[in-house]
Amino acid sequence: MKMKTKRTLVKAALGREESMDSILIKGWVRTRRDSKGFSFVEVNDGSCLKNIQVIVDATWPDYAKIDEVTTGAAISVTGELAASLGKGQKWEIRASGLEVLGTADSSYPLQKKGHGAEYLREIAHLRPRSNMFGCIFRVRNRLAFAVHNFFQEKEFLYVHTPLITANDCEGAGELFRVSSLDAKSPPLNDAGEVDFGEDFFARPTYLAVSGQLEAEIFATAFSNVYTFGPTFRAENSNTSRHASEFWMIEPEMAFCDLEGNMDLAEEFVKYLIADILKNCQEDLSLFARFVDKGLLNRLQFVVDRPFKRVSYTKAIELLQKSGKKFEFPVDYGANLQSEHERYLAEDHFRCPVTVYDFPKEIKPFYMRSNDDGKTVGAMDLLVPKIGEIVGGSQREERFDVLSENLKHHGLSEKDYWWYLELRKYGTVEHSGFGLGFERMLMFVTGVANIRDVIPFARTPGNAEF
Ligand code: 4AD
Ligand code: MG
Repeated sequence: MKMKTKRTLVKAALGREESMDSILIKGWVRTRRDSKGFSFVEVNDGSCLKNIQVIVDATWPDYAKIDEVTTGAAISVTGELAASLGKGQKWEIRASGLEVLGTADSSYPLQKKGHGAEYLREIAHLRPRSNMFGCIFRVRNRLAFAVHNFFQEKEFLYVHTPLITANDCEGAGELFRVSSLDAKSPPLNDAGEVDFGEDFFARPTYLAVSGQLEAEIFATAFSNVYTFGPTFRAENSNTSRHASEFWMIEPEMAFCDLEGNMDLAEEFVKYLIADILKNCQEDLSLFARFVDKGLLNRLQFVVDRPFKRVSYTKAIELLQKSGKKFEFPVDYGANLQSEHERYLAEDHFRCPVTVYDFPKEIKPFYMRSNDDGKTVGAMDLLVPKIGEIVGGSQREERFDVLSENLKHHGLSEKDYWWYLELRKYGTVEHSGFGLGFERMLMFVTGVANIRDVIPFARTPGNAEF
């Protein structure tokens, strides 16, 4: 029996130290160029940005089939991996056999380079085959791996928090309801309202906006934990930084105060950037060429320099003194808008900055009250070009203060009985934060729209694919 040659990935082939007498590759044709006596076929299999060049000799008995080797077709090639005489590549394949596995006719949309991001969003089923999206999703893959490495190296426990919950952690009311009631004739209560007590879970349920409250449960058993999963927000904001389904990483640490929390967020962001700089050079080089010329310098700068820290009160002062005309007013007690965040990170500090101690009124019920009676131990990490990338806080660990806060926010102790019991049994100072995974990807790639760093974006009015 003939020994079957094992398939080699293009990345491995291009990275070889030595030639190979016999190689098998499979992938998709990027281009084909015919010249006298030869055809040059560029093949990509997604393992790296670069294509491998295949040379098909016109004396090959099946050369008539070369017309089927078109852009977008899937092919399998056997041959010899030999030093390339061409410029810019170490290796090429001199084909001895070629099979067209799946043809692609001239209607294949990715014929030529240079399609706009908007058009490519409409063909999200094909855009991963483009250079740009190949790079984006390889970086996304590596970034996810780096997230786990960071926390696993620190002995944090990875916890899977539920996607279906009954709580609105952030209290913003941006919930997607989960229901199996018949939408046409739902059961009604005496007041004539839909009776969700009759629903699948015998209570109103929603897709989780955050895994934090459940992560807190685990932190009060395992000390240091993190979640990493999808979260959902029915927030009707059509911006370049908001998605209705996005991934979030949420560490939660017992025996940790706000300062320790800010330290960890800074270390984490730097670690992720350094990892991508080290392991995704080829992909980053494409972003640096076509997306954002200043990317590599900015990333290195962020890794090398300490982040700034400023209280919310001071940040408001800086914004008011800036002399800049903002669209939204800058008043103590108001949320920082994206333009304010960007002014602070881009113009004033010119580096990532953590704003801490926000007014109680604009933050959720679980944040720890400061002694001033006005502010809570909250923190937002802002970065140039994006604004908020991390949001977190020290949590209220005092039973009485927490039950007051619940009342203040119009929430019932009955619904949060288990959350309160964490404060009744072995309560402890604890803190955590959430890093928006897509926002982090935007930052490391320079890609300006969140729809382009997530494989299949869910945004208001949009859930194709
Ligand atoms: O500031 P947020 O709302 O904080 C929380 O959810 C806390 N429970 C986290 C915690 O303390 N464990 O969200 C955290 C981060 C934001 O800083 C942002 O990066 C990202 O999640 N984010 C979004 N990313 C994309 N689309 C959206 N609609 C986002 N909303 C928040
Ligand atoms: Mg936030």
